[in-house]
Amino acid sequence: MQEFQGKVAVITGGASGIGLGLARQAAAEGMRLVLADVEQEALDAAAAELRAGGAEVLPLRTDVSRLEDVEALAEQAWARFGAVHLLCNNAGVGSAVAGSVLAGTLANWQWLLGVNLWGVIHGVHVFAPRLLEQNEPAHIVNTASIAGLIAGHLGIYTVSKHAVVALSETLHEELSRMDTMLQAHVLLPGPVATALTGARRNRPAAIAHEPDERDIEIPGRREWLAGHSTTIENGMDPAEVAEHTFTALREGRFYIYTHPWQQSHMALIGQRCADLLTARNPHVHPYA
Ligand SMILES: NC(=O)c1ccc[n+]([C@@H]2O[C@H](COP(=O)([O-])OP(=O)(O)OC[C@H]3O[C@@H](n4cnc5c(N)ncnc54)[C@H](O)[C@@H]3O)[C@@H](O)[C@H]2O)c1
Repeated sequence: MQEFQGKVAVITGGASGIGLGLARQAAAEGMRLVLADVEQEALDAAAAELRAGGAEVLPLRTDVSRLEDVEALAEQAWARFGAVHLLCNNAGVGSAVAGSVLAGTLANWQWLLGVNLWGVIHGVHVFAPRLLEQNEPAHIVNTASIAGLIAGHLGIYTVSKHAVVALSETLHEELSRMDTMLQAHVLLPGPVATALTGARRNRPAAIAHEPDERDIEIPGRREWLAGHSTTIENGMDPAEVAEHTFTALREGRFYIYTHPWQQSHMALIGQRCADLLTARNPHVHPYA
């Protein structure tokens, strides 16, 4: 899609960070907005800010891990605006709070996969048939992460993001075989300065008091995670991520990279591919 003026964007996790960056960019492009987020207060503040800038905004409290919430989101988006042209399945939780594969509790697995993976599954499952039927140029952008392309380090979060990449690639493949103007994309940011390190604020009440991890220590991991939080705090401005995203949509690019230094991640991706292609055991990168 080249022209976004007057079109409709639905953005999950739109009250903060990358989602809010996407919403601001969409508003600047003249789009009408449906903002979906589990945090009511942040949602109201985001909607007020965007409206003050002249945008038309429908804020809807939505827990993307619940199918009925995502169905209601689609229902209300079409009821209000009559069409949707951009769906950003962006809501996510992690990354330091995610827990390692060995030590993470099942409650954490369910929470992480519930939001990061099932949230995207629900978005695609509910919106794609409507977007196909609408038969207008439209985009689904799934927010994964560079963690979705390389192994290790971020534990359950890594697992969830690999799944989002696989889901998005498969969606792209299926859409490409069809006679449709609906396109799929996967957003692959490196560190972005958002509230992600405080994602625990959105842990469901039922598990709020459960420990994040069982008593299994992986040497060096905790120290690395502490540094990783600082890396995120000093990360890219979400506005820049949004700019890269809209440029990629205009250019019809499926893989949306954000960080120029992602070249260094390319070495890690290359290493993983080489291990796969030669059936070597996966390379274990030091915590650094
Ligand atoms: N910040 C980074 O460095 C980084 C890097 C790569 C990918 N990502 C991904 O970007 C996406 C956005 O995260 P962010 O960094 O902007 O963090 P953020 O915490 O600032 O924003 C995430 C938003 O998702 C919302 N959310 C959480 N659980 C939800 C649920 N169940 N239903 C609906 N909304 C929910 C939060 O309330 C919040 O507004 C996530 O998918 C994250 O994994 C972030």
